[in-house]
Amino acid sequence: MQYRQTEVICVDPVEPEPAVIERAAERLRAGQLVVFPTETVYGLGADALRPAAVEQIFVAKGRPLSDPLIVHIAHEDKLESLVTEVSAQARQLARAFWPGPLTLILPAGSCVPKLVTAGLSTVAIRMPRHPVALALIRAAGFPIAAPSANRFMHVSPTTAQHALVDLNGRVPLILDGGPCAVGVESTILDLCAEAPTILRPGGVSLEQLRTILPEVQPPPERQHLQEEEALIEEAQKSPGQLPVHYAPTVPAFLFEGSTEAMLRAMLAEVKSREEQGELVGVLVADEDVAAFQGCGACVYALGNTAEQVAVRLFAGLRVLEEAGVQLILCRSFDKQGLGLAIRDRLLKAAGGKIIRV
Ligand code: TXA
Ligand code: MG
Repeated sequence: MQYRQTEVICVDPVEPEPAVIERAAERLRAGQLVVFPTETVYGLGADALRPAAVEQIFVAKGRPLSDPLIVHIAHEDKLESLVTEVSAQARQLARAFWPGPLTLILPAGSCVPKLVTAGLSTVAIRMPRHPVALALIRAAGFPIAAPSANRFMHVSPTTAQHALVDLNGRVPLILDGGPCAVGVESTILDLCAEAPTILRPGGVSLEQLRTILPEVQPPPERQHLQEEEALIEEAQKSPGQLPVHYAPTVPAFLFEGSTEAMLRAMLAEVKSREEQGELVGVLVADEDVAAFQGCGACVYALGNTAEQVAVRLFAGLRVLEEAGVQLILCRSFDKQGLGLAIRDRLLKAAGGKIIRV
């Protein structure tokens, strides 16, 4: 479906105006798509229980039907109607982390359309914490299926403007609730595996999950492009986990090593590329910026704490892309806490290309 214009309406992110929410809910009830803010990234929502509405998500994103969607709910009570069984583990985790950036993989109930689960026997469910998302789900009166509101393979949107760039004319309405507070997507935890296993690290850290369920397994380490074949096979289970899923449209490299060695190697790469007439973008911490002064690179500072880096990461990739750089060089960050999700997204942006120094 093409729209002459995508309407963007501002909404108060703390106390969403009921009239604005109602307008968006009406669109959803009419089977249309609405882009809305969540605390992680912007979502592209449709009535999760209506296949014809869900189908439009795949068309608007250009996403293959083999990639299942997350179902967003506003009350824990809604779980029972969407799954065949709510385990004690699921209850404990929901109580601890919902509303919030945690998605649980549970056995799908019969009311969940096959389009949502991509034919799997499981369904991904999360209760977001953003007041606009919660208000919209409540006003709509049904759960909302929503992937990130970007075109397939592009970087997830953390502002309404990012979503507009990707989906202008492809959706009727975008609710602009300002920038997302977390900045990386939700953690996806598979509760249907033998042991609870993280499929995608995200806004709730492994350490946090283990305070509730000590047996939670980290996501499998995937660092080399040679693993790509295995990944593609694995993608049958979690198709969005392809290594290039979050890739910006320009090639990127992830540097790894001591801070000093990384910065030295990045600077050397910038200089050699510059000599060949290439414009290079670099993603670094605030405290690294001085090291690049005087060179011609586009420098994007991500902050210093993991929380700051997570919030700015996707915006940074988009800014560099729009600046017309031919190559993006990123430094690595600590892997603790949110750092695991940051590393995962950087690796995906780099298509698995790591330069160890
Ligand atoms: O933070 C988020 O999770 C955002 C906001 C909008 O909620 N949503 C999001 O959706 O990131 P999406 O579609 O971009 O990523 C969802 C991931 C996909 O990689 C998909 O493969 C995986 O969840 N997924 C969905 N259902 C699944 C299932 N039944 N089993 C395994 N993985 C599943
Ligand atoms: Mg996505």
